[in-house]
Amino acid sequence: MESDRSGLGEGGPPVVDRGGGEPSGGSRPQRTSRAAPSEREIGVIERPAPERAIVRQEQARRARRAELSRRRFFGAAFWGAMGIGLTGSLAAFLSFFWPRGLQGFGGEVPVSADLIPRPGDNPVRVANGKFWLVNLESGEGAHAGFGTPGSGGLVALFWVCPHLGCTVPWREAFTFEGATGWFRCPCHGSTYSRAGVRVFGPAPRPMDTMDITVNADGSITVDTGSITPGGEDNPTRAVPYDA
Ligand code: FES
Repeated sequence: MESDRSGLGEGGPPVVDRGGGEPSGGSRPQRTSRAAPSEREIGVIERPAPERAIVRQEQARRARRAELSRRRFFGAAFWGAMGIGLTGSLAAFLSFFWPRGLQGFGGEVPVSADLIPRPGDNPVRVANGKFWLVNLESGEGAHAGFGTPGSGGLVALFWVCPHLGCTVPWREAFTFEGATGWFRCPCHGSTYSRAGVRVFGPAPRPMDTMDITVNADGSITVDTGSITPGGEDNPTRAVPYDA
C-alpha cells in the first residue's frame, strides 16, 4: 500500500514540518511550560497565614513582657524612693526626740568645784538645773521640831514649790522665828529651812531633792531627772563633800 504523501493522515491531525530537515518521524523535544519564579527569586517572602499569626502572637508576647518589665522597674523605683524618704523622716524624728547627753533640766547637770558653796554659805542658784545647791553644816536644816538633823553636806533642792508650783527664792535677809535666811515662796508664803524643810505655810511637804554624785576633780553632777519628794529627812540626804 502507498503511503499518504499529502501530509494528511488517515483521520489524524496534519504533521507540519517547520524546516531544518529534521525527520518528521523522529522524536522531538517536548515544549515545557516555564515554572513561576520562587519567593526568594523575586525578593518577597510571603509567609503563609498560620506563620504570620504565630509571628504576631510572639511579637505581642514580647511587647507584654517589655511592658511588664517597665512597670516593675518604675514600681521598684517608686517604692525605693518612698522607703528612703520614710527612713530619712523616721531618723530625723528619732534624732529630734531621742534624749541624749542632756545637760539641762531633766538630765545630768555638772557643777564645777569653784561654784560649790562652802558650809554655811548662801545657797547657789543653778538655773539650767532648776535647783538650789546648799552646803549644810552638821546639824543644820532642822528647826523647832521640823526636820531630822543630819551630819551636813551638799543638798540639791528642786526650786518648784510643792504647794502649787511657784518658783521658790532664797531670802537671805528674811527673818522668821529668830533665824535669818530662809527659802520663802512668794505665792502663799510657805517657808523652808536651808535643807528645804517646811516650817510654815500651806505646802504639803518639804522641798523635793535631786541625786548628787561627787566627782574626783571636786566637781559634782546633779541628776535633775531623779527627783525625790521632800521629807522631814531632807537634812540626812546631804552628800558629804570635803573637796
Ligand atoms: S505655791 Fe508656794 S506656797 Fe503656794
